[in-house]
Amino acid sequence: MDIPLYFYIAYDDLDRLSPGSDKTTGRVIDMIDFDIDDRINILDIGCGVGQATIQLANHFRNGEIEAIDLFRHYLDVLDEKIKENNLQKRVFSYKMDMRDLDFANEEFDIVFAESSIEIIGFKKGLHEWKRLLKPNGYLIVSDVSWIGRPSKESRKFWKGIYDEVDTIENKVSQIRDEGYEFIGNVTVPKGDWKTYHEQLEGNLNKLNGDASAREFVRQLKKEINAYRQNSDDYSYVFYIMRKC
Ligand SMILES: C[S@@+](CC[C@H](N)C(=O)[O-])C[C@H]1O[C@@H](n2cnc3c(N)ncnc32)[C@H](O)[C@@H]1O
Repeated sequence: MDIPLYFYIAYDDLDRLSPGSDKTTGRVIDMIDFDIDDRINILDIGCGVGQATIQLANHFRNGEIEAIDLFRHYLDVLDEKIKENNLQKRVFSYKMDMRDLDFANEEFDIVFAESSIEIIGFKKGLHEWKRLLKPNGYLIVSDVSWIGRPSKESRKFWKGIYDEVDTIENKVSQIRDEGYEFIGNVTVPKGDWKTYHEQLEGNLNKLNGDASAREFVRQLKKEINAYRQNSDDYSYVFYIMRKC
């Protein structure tokens, strides 16, 4: 798939490709009942430039991590971080489609997907990725969720972009319906969105290009403004669950 250059320029130098922070990922990691010394296997799906991949590897200091993404461009950035952190023996990146994951059943203790399950869909991801987990293994995904009573504008904005935006309560029901034990949830705070949007906006303001580049910038700015105007309505929410 050919990705236009402006797409990469928009996200250039961002340490993550979605709103988040080490602090928020840390709160999620604290809900996992593995010891930092355990020899566990972790899969990071749609890892992007791998900020959370490296954090997971540094936290679980004997863990082995496979990180997959569809785009080599991002994996190259992750590979640099793997080298800088001297993690070559424990962290491995692969270009792979999350719709066709080439891993055996029950291979992982943790499957982690930050802001990427929407690509396959929340319910489908919960269903398809379950086979990858060992018994008692953790699935951790973050997904756009209503955190308040959504305004008409927010509903209109998300309609057609992602049809599975739902309340936390309904997402938890879907998790239980799929047979997982629900452990807890962590909402990505407004401050994480603010930092992410400011960095992204800085890049967008420098981006010049043809009509399709301008349309791309317009769409992203629309997304940023939609959030700023309705930041009490929705956020990414991490859901931590366990395979029974
Ligand atoms: C919103 S970004 C999140 C990246 C990273 N997890 C983060 O939070 O910074 C979604 C990621 O999914 C990747 N992606 C898109 N389609 C994919 C697919 N079919 N299979 C695997 N990765 C995909 C994108 O390249 C991107 O890195």
